[in-house]
Amino acid sequence: MTNTNEPRKQNMNRKFYITTPIYYVNARPHIGHAYTTIACDTVARRQRMLGTDTFFLTGTDEHGQKIERAAQAAGKTPQQFTDEVAGEFRALWQRMGISNDDFIRTTEERHKKRMQELFRRIRDNGYIYKGRYTGQYCFSDELYVDGAKPGDPCPICGRPTETVEEENYFFKLSAFQDKLLELYANPDFIRPETRRNEVISFVRSGLRDQSISRSTFSWGIPVPDDPKHVIYVWFDALANYITAIGFGSTDAGEQETFEKYWPADVHMIGKEIVRFHCVYWPAFLLAAGLPLPKAIMAHGWLLFEESKMSKSRGNIVRTETILDVLGTDALRYFLLREVVFGQDGSFSFDALVQRYNSDLANGLGNLASRTLTMINRYFKGEVPYPSHAATRTAADDVVREKAEWTMSECSQFFTDYQFSAALESIWIRLIATVDKYIVENEPWALGEKQDEDSRSRLATVLYTSAEALRIATALAHPVIPDATAKIWVQMGLGDIKKFDLSTLKWGQLHLGTKLGNIEPVFPRADKSAVERMQQMEDQQRGSTVEEAKIVAPQPPAAQPAVMAPAIPSADRGKITIDDFAKIELRVGVVKVAERVPKADKLLRLEIDIGTEVRQVVAGIAEAYAPETLVGRKVVIVANLAPRKLRGLESNGMIVAASPEGGKPVLTGFLEDVPVGARLK
Ligand code: MSP
Repeated sequence: MTNTNEPRKQNMNRKFYITTPIYYVNARPHIGHAYTTIACDTVARRQRMLGTDTFFLTGTDEHGQKIERAAQAAGKTPQQFTDEVAGEFRALWQRMGISNDDFIRTTEERHKKRMQELFRRIRDNGYIYKGRYTGQYCFSDELYVDGAKPGDPCPICGRPTETVEEENYFFKLSAFQDKLLELYANPDFIRPETRRNEVISFVRSGLRDQSISRSTFSWGIPVPDDPKHVIYVWFDALANYITAIGFGSTDAGEQETFEKYWPADVHMIGKEIVRFHCVYWPAFLLAAGLPLPKAIMAHGWLLFEESKMSKSRGNIVRTETILDVLGTDALRYFLLREVVFGQDGSFSFDALVQRYNSDLANGLGNLASRTLTMINRYFKGEVPYPSHAATRTAADDVVREKAEWTMSECSQFFTDYQFSAALESIWIRLIATVDKYIVENEPWALGEKQDEDSRSRLATVLYTSAEALRIATALAHPVIPDATAKIWVQMGLGDIKKFDLSTLKWGQLHLGTKLGNIEPVFPRADKSAVERMQQMEDQQRGSTVEEAKIVAPQPPAAQPAVMAPAIPSADRGKITIDDFAKIELRVGVVKVAERVPKADKLLRLEIDIGTEVRQVVAGIAEAYAPETLVGRKVVIVANLAPRKLRGLESNGMIVAASPEGGKPVLTGFLEDVPVGARLK
């Protein structure tokens, strides 16, 4: 269950419970998911370091029609499909050393039973009734869109909503308007303030009862005593925060865990799911008579190529690419330093490598290696102590003061989830000061002299630098756990996880501490790192272009306004003729073909499809020289949502056969076909 071996400290009289959203398994994990998980992991690690009894939960959201459809598209049963993708999330978090204490899947028995118990409780309290729902629904966000007309876009993702008409169970959300507004009076309940204001105005505008069951498909948790209905996926998902820690369990130990950790200290979420967490979830809990979470913290989006990174836009960056080239700490540091938590922020490989080199390789890494190497060289690897008060200077005190200031402001920044400000404080206030101090005091020159004053001064300079390094390392540990653990060992201080951060103060580094082996923790990344990562991602995307098969139903954007009838289980994995008709395949002729700079697999094509000329970026460069394509007739998927590849908008997909292990082969015709003809 747990992949953390964090030793627990003695004075654990406080508890801290933190959660990530549980991630949908319709998409492979990408760095957007990693972002929330890293932020939570950082908070959890810091709390443990402070001696707090911490529980960190993450997991996967596996029910609902969206997942059912994704499984069908992949030709798998929902269970097979969810097992696979949930396994990928779990494996990725393990590879990244994420310190979650549990990983909940909503398809687990423990969750299903306890969720049903929550439903029963709310029903018994009189807040659930049966009614008829007719309205618009967004399948991508699993959202009922109140007041929308057929075809209106979803307020979250902008895709057209679908009309849903069915008998449902309803939750009396309207009964909680005043109680919720009272709750929001506490400014710390929803952060940041912009999100709080949005929620307040939404609730003030009036709350309608909420449908909480579906009856036209079966991939979900059956409603107790009425199994024709499955529980609405958001209700099911939100409950994970309590089911995972033992709510509704009959086991005394688990009940105790629930009593100990609930309410959550913070639910960390992305800004698009604020309403679910700040309106529905507290209302469900109030209806069940359960305590409410203490805080909900919403962060912004990671943008890539100017739009939200997401599977449907095709602009995701896989976490593994960054781990392979630069390692976990680089990604953690970059995301928390570069993006102001709560606001949107852009991701780029250039910025990542630049930060890595400037702050990690040249910053902390360089400070550690030069300080420790000089202690090795001039003091036989043992921490020296400033012996003569007479050789002390004001510069030593400046370093100490900056360190003390950093410790105090960092603590506040971390408590307020201002990761970027906390890291800025460690790097700009402390590390940059020590770097300057070392340059100005020239320990290498002092090391050449043998007189007593020079030796004493050298001891002071190296002690001061090492002590500042120790403090920076301890403060940065929750953010970059691997590298800081190594520096700690190199400093002869043992296992950093055993260090109690609440005791951190200047002067704890003992005279004579024997250093360990010194090795660079952040080798400098050369320019090729950016290219390598870009290539890895292009290959990944290129292969999606080549491998895209025409069996996949289109994403919800292309769904008709009326919900499709449920597919009988024997035919799962197949599509109907209507599904196929949604894919607009047309004959086009290549007008322009050229290579995409720095992308071995990609060609930029301009294709005339009769009514217009489309730019398409295709992963076929290894199979076709651009000049051989001009004038050739090809088949393109003409109604594919545009996406960006290497900064170029691709408006459609070229159809090719993808032989196992071979190069793509473009479709063609034996007879002549007019440009623009549709394939049906
Ligand atoms: N399953 C729901 C959440 C249920 S919680 C009871 C869901 N899942 S999701 O897979 O879409 O993941 C949403 C979360 O992943 C976001 O809230 C955010 O934390 C993270 N992110 C996914 N893409 C992201 C970005 N591009 N940028 C930042 N975070 C992103 O919604």
